[in-house]
Amino acid sequence: MLLVTLACLLCSVQQSSGQFPRACASAESLRQKECCPLWPGDGSPCGQRSGRGSCQDVVLSRAPLGPQFPFTGVDDREDWPSVFYNRTCRCVDGFMGFHCGDCKFGLRGANCTAQRLLVRRSIFELTGAEKDRFLAYLVLAKRSTSRDYVIATGTYAQMGNGSSPMFRDISVYDLFVWMHYYVSRDTLLGGADVWRDIDFAHEAPGFLPWHRFFLLLWEQEIQKLTGDENFTIPYWDWRDAEVCDICTDEYMGGRHPTNSNLLSPASFFASWQVGCSEEYNSRRTLCDASAEGPLLRNPGNHDRARTPRLPSSADVESCLSLTQYEADPMDKSANFSFRNTLEGFANPLTAIADSSQSSLHNALHIFMNGSMSQVQGSANDPIFILHHAFVDSIFEQWLRRHGPLQEVYPAANAPIGHNRESYMVPFIPVYRNGEFFIPSRDLGYDYAYLIEPGNGFFLVLRGSSNILHIFQHVTTLLSHHRRSRAKWIEHGLGVRRTWVLILALPLVCCVTLGKSLAFSVYVTSSVKWGLRLGVLCGTGIVSNPICLYLPQRLELYLAQSKHLNTIIINILFKKTQRA
Ligand SMILES: *[C@@H]1O[C@H](CO)[C@@H](O)[C@H](O)[C@H]1NC(C)=O
Ligand SMILES: *[C@@H]1O[C@H](CO)[C@@H](O)[C@H](O)[C@H]1NC(C)=O
Ligand SMILES: *[C@@H]1O[C@H](CO)[C@@H](O)[C@H](O)[C@H]1NC(C)=O
Ligand SMILES: *[C@@H]1O[C@H](CO)[C@@H](O)[C@H](O)[C@H]1NC(C)=O
Ligand SMILES: *[C@@H]1O[C@H](CO)[C@@H](O)[C@H](O)[C@H]1NC(C)=O
Ligand SMILES: *[C@@H]1O[C@H](CO)[C@@H](O)[C@H](O)[C@H]1NC(C)=O
Repeated sequence: MLLVTLACLLCSVQQSSGQFPRACASAESLRQKECCPLWPGDGSPCGQRSGRGSCQDVVLSRAPLGPQFPFTGVDDREDWPSVFYNRTCRCVDGFMGFHCGDCKFGLRGANCTAQRLLVRRSIFELTGAEKDRFLAYLVLAKRSTSRDYVIATGTYAQMGNGSSPMFRDISVYDLFVWMHYYVSRDTLLGGADVWRDIDFAHEAPGFLPWHRFFLLLWEQEIQKLTGDENFTIPYWDWRDAEVCDICTDEYMGGRHPTNSNLLSPASFFASWQVGCSEEYNSRRTLCDASAEGPLLRNPGNHDRARTPRLPSSADVESCLSLTQYEADPMDKSANFSFRNTLEGFANPLTAIADSSQSSLHNALHIFMNGSMSQVQGSANDPIFILHHAFVDSIFEQWLRRHGPLQEVYPAANAPIGHNRESYMVPFIPVYRNGEFFIPSRDLGYDYAYLIEPGNGFFLVLRGSSNILHIFQHVTTLLSHHRRSRAKWIEHGLGVRRTWVLILALPLVCCVTLGKSLAFSVYVTSSVKWGLRLGVLCGTGIVSNPICLYLPQRLELYLAQSKHLNTIIINILFKKTQRA
């Protein structure tokens, strides 16, 4: 089967990378509230002289927040990053990063103009050498001090409002542990008071985009550290698993022979120390990522009343069929929310929130019964990466099946930090949740198990706003194909329709097969500017030897968002099987 995906993303969203760039961790930077480091390529802030970007005021969203966090002005993460900085680099074209020195995800080259698509594969599909390389990269990241980033070891107030900076070096691996801690930590209210019902990356709509960006950044830091520009993180497909089949010394570490809470001494990670896994609330301070002891894991020793089994394929399928991304009140009590169900606070088969159970994503964390099981320290266990890559792939399947526009992601009334235009904590420069609510291919990556076998190709068109221009590309592409009787199918478009319009269009697709083509256009109720087209070129191809490379099925999705001035077209078609 040949699967071709064509996606045109026009006028792409602003992007840029990371936490407390070293260059901005000075009293001077904090006093000026400016984080616009010099790009070493030309010595100008944000690479301005080379046209990479410029130093700009951070413009905060004023959309109302949900009621979950009843305070203001008590947590450095409110209105991120404004407590620390009100000016950061804004990069243009294909550039991103704290000084615009990196390429956006999916681009490469000296000028960040070449497109690339990286494929994340199952850890079990890596060759022995590839798998060992991945493990070696993890170990290298754990040992190497981050060149670009430092972590904050005190709150802004503890830093004397910036006058006495408290930052320290951190390894590339532990930087990510710390960021995950920092985003999910409780609010210190002074004295012994803490507010626990706050999390800038979980229990709310930002869960999926935040972790998507987090993994991309992680992948990018490993690429930079190792010079292996094609490195991708592997995933662990845990559907229907009965045991932790990656928990062997060959992979992520087996069990210690005498202490079942520890890793086998022969595993790659047996000597790792964890950080940010302890209770920092009582110390009224921030985690400084110092070593706290060995990695803990005891897969299957968890509370079986809470998580009776690992998620099944049926659980995942049921979750994917949910049509709403998010539902009120957009936290862990939300019913019929795809996000809440995938995160694991709702029963995967009914989508009704159930605080007594941990399902899907949460089930894996609980199952590991160790470092993975506490939200704040969970990234200490490298299984976190493999697990979250798979969760991200389910998010990706949902995006492909339902084709939502940006407007589907809640703009207002989400818990603090989770509105569409909120900047994600703790990244600097700034990225909005909504920017990562887009198909993975627009961010330059895909999952091996989601790509159908064959010679697929992928095309992104940027910089044109003319829809006719896109159709020219589409028709040129399809002009090789012959006409066929087409049948409308609703495959993969599980979105409620307010109206359906059937059009017969003389699209070049299938034209030469001499049969008619049916075309369906509809606007979804949830999407103001939405428009989707679906085409199926069906029968009569297999018997025709000339049509061996012709589409058996073709789907064309077109989505236009006036708000973001973005047009996306996805075309998928499959080669007919040789009869
Ligand atoms: C940014 O912060 C600095 C230092 O507090 C202040 O002087 C400046 O007015 C602020 N700029 C904006 C746009 O808020
Ligand atoms: C990058 O852009 C510069 C300036 O436009 C140009 O001189 C150079 O050849 C470009 N490099 C590549 C690899 O495209
Ligand atoms: C920091 O700022 C707060 C609020 O503006 C103020 O109350 C406090 O005294 C300041 N602390 C220091 C050490 O400057
Ligand atoms: C990465 O992949 C590209 C395209 O396949 C190839 O040209 C390049 O040499 C690879 N880079 C490395 C470092 O292997
Ligand atoms: C491991 O599971 C037991 C219940 O079986 C539970 O009491 C304990 O808190 C869990 N440990 C961790 C670290 O999650
Ligand atoms: C979710 O559904 C359950 C069962 O119908 C109901 O008791 C609960 O109030 C609902 N929660 C929300 C937030 O609507």
